[in-house]
Amino acid sequence: MCSRAKPSLTDYTGTNRISTSQPGPMLDLSDQQPFAQGSNRKCFRHPLDSTRCLKVIRPENITARFERQSPVKRLLGKERLNDNAQELRAHQQHALQQLLNQGNEALVWAHLPRFYGSTPTSLGMANESELIRCADGSVAPTLEHLIKTQGLTPDLHRGIDEFLAWLSQTRILTRNLLPHNLVVSDQFDHPRLFLIDGLGAPTIPQALDSVPGWSSRYIKRKIERFQKRLAWEQSHEGLSWEDFQHLR
Ligand SMILES: Nc1ncnc2c1ncn2[C@@H]1O[C@H](COP(=O)(O)OP(=O)(O)OP(=O)(O)O)[C@@H](O)[C@H]1O
Ligand SMILES: [Mg+2]
Repeated sequence: MCSRAKPSLTDYTGTNRISTSQPGPMLDLSDQQPFAQGSNRKCFRHPLDSTRCLKVIRPENITARFERQSPVKRLLGKERLNDNAQELRAHQQHALQQLLNQGNEALVWAHLPRFYGSTPTSLGMANESELIRCADGSVAPTLEHLIKTQGLTPDLHRGIDEFLAWLSQTRILTRNLLPHNLVVSDQFDHPRLFLIDGLGAPTIPQALDSVPGWSSRYIKRKIERFQKRLAWEQSHEGLSWEDFQHLR
């Protein structure tokens, strides 16, 4: 069974932590290589804590995305394209905060990396979170990688079903679920999925997230879209994701 790091006193677990926590000393990442990167962020192992990772924004991508936007959207500024800012906001969402306030920490972090808020580094502000690992200590692979290399095994299916049941139960809001934003740990009795990117929802859905009927419908749609996405990941018809969605 897994032995995940116990939360420390500096855990980001409640609404007030972000405004009251003092920034620690700046962490130097200058001699480090990222262990992974997405299109928007570089991910580093935390230099002082092997259970955590630090995600810093790739500013060139924000600028490129900003320049592709319509003049009207540009009026809203660059900050809304900052994935770290969006992720901080996503952790404030009603469903997640309510569960934490009720003491349901284990349920919240069952499929999310523990989140520790914002940390200054030599590469700018980072979002600090739990680094999800496998039993042998390696960084957990993405669901996308596992589907490509071993296919959707019954065990993996079980892990996916468990993750989707957790979403429906907790009503934690996510953006579109993508297999490269989920990692799979083998530290449990069956593969366990963690959503490492894509928590939260656009401004209006997140504002409506305390309305139970509304959030359940929102989550149902995200789950249906994800199931379609999994079918596409396994299909060998050569269709683009856009064409696949329209034809099914
Ligand atoms: N907490 C974590 N534990 C293990 N691996 C992680 C974690 N966070 C990120 N990764 C790895 O780093 C990759 C990039 O991280 P992330 O998805 O956060 O970057 P991004 O730039 O925001 O992604 P995108 O391109 O989807 O916008 C992930 O696909 C995953 O392989
Ligand atoms: Mg990602």
